[in-house]
Amino acid sequence: MTIQADRWGIHPAQFWLRGEDPASPVRFDEETGIWNVYGYEEACAVLGDPKTFSSAHVNDLFPVEVDQSMREGNLLDLDPPDHRKLRNLVSKAFSGKVVADLEPRITALTHELLDRVDTDRFELVSDLAHPLPVIVIAELLGLPPDDRELFREWVDKMFAETNQFSLNDSKEKMEQDFAGAVEGFAPLREYLGAHIRARRADPRDDLISGLVRAEIDGERLNDNEVVNFTVVLLIAGHVTTTMLLGNTTLCLDAHPAQRDRVRADRSLVPVAIEESLRFLTPFAAVARATTTDVTVGGQHIPADQMLMMWLSAANRDARRFTDPHLFDATRDPNPHIGFGRGIHFCVGAPLARLEGRIAVNALLDRFPGLHVDPDQAPTFMPSPNMTGVKTLPLRVA
Ligand code: HEM
Repeated sequence: MTIQADRWGIHPAQFWLRGEDPASPVRFDEETGIWNVYGYEEACAVLGDPKTFSSAHVNDLFPVEVDQSMREGNLLDLDPPDHRKLRNLVSKAFSGKVVADLEPRITALTHELLDRVDTDRFELVSDLAHPLPVIVIAELLGLPPDDRELFREWVDKMFAETNQFSLNDSKEKMEQDFAGAVEGFAPLREYLGAHIRARRADPRDDLISGLVRAEIDGERLNDNEVVNFTVVLLIAGHVTTTMLLGNTTLCLDAHPAQRDRVRADRSLVPVAIEESLRFLTPFAAVARATTTDVTVGGQHIPADQMLMMWLSAANRDARRFTDPHLFDATRDPNPHIGFGRGIHFCVGAPLARLEGRIAVNALLDRFPGLHVDPDQAPTFMPSPNMTGVKTLPLRVA
């Protein structure tokens, strides 16, 4: 598959999407002051050692005051032992068994959404890939699914940034960026705060009520912790899955013979979804900070350095994957790290996989002639840390 990087607006920093290999698996970037980890083995080593490579310490590396109220309760920002305590609060709600029970609801929703599309053309993201996961996660949390256009507006603003962040920016620029981020999150935080206060007064059978009631070491989470926890669940719970549905549709369209094979043998749908996660990894990069001197990929890295693990590049490491730049819908085994690795491994992976399987099957069933609109190119997410379709115009026949 030729990635039309320029035409589709794929971020230029993602050189592996143009089929290029990194000069070395770990490289210090003088411009940003950040260590880029591109190798598979090296990324796994970092993600498997949270003591040396901390999530919480990342924020300490910025020479600006980070408002603690933005951080408390954010699962992605925590290290052991706090991380485990908080993660235990939700891991059951997203376990394979609980998620499997959602299949009838997700199937009905998928068909409801597809019943509404035009008979000759539609835009996959607006009509299915965004509403499906956002409605599912909103229903689980206990938020009104009809507010999804609001979420889309707020989230689009949060991820509009096209520059890679840098530790070499001036203090003023960083302060401005942080203030911008705080401002960007404010409407969503206020909105969630109101729902959380309502659940404290009147609990229901939903995840927000569960978080409001939950206790860690005998203490309840405060409203702010529940807000931050819910922000992560709401955003992580749909943005990446939206990209997964769009990317998989795009990859199958680019490989008609593979698409026909998947259509004929539906046991290949989950296999094709894993390959899509490897080939176009939605959550392209995760950050960690060193707590001590360490060697990674033969490079000596001092303490208090920031590392970006490019999952999207590691998933194309020729030392781990045969023909890494080839989309192969039958690739099995496929040990990609598109959901991360180690203690922060995506809690929502079973849900994302289920939504992917249901949506791809429904598209294959209902639209035998479905193809990417030759007159309207897809667009991609502008952020360098994401790899995914933002819009994907389709023709039904
Ligand atoms: C963590 C990817 C869907 C919730 C992660 C991480 C990755 C990831 C790479 C690890 C971050 C790190 O190591 O710092 C994805 C992809 C998805 C997806 C590619 C869809 C295709 C979901 C869904 C949910 C979710 C549906 C719904 C609840 C989370 C949460 C974490 C997480 C809460 C933090 C886990 C922790 O820190 O322990 N995800 N995710 N994700 N994901 Fe997902």
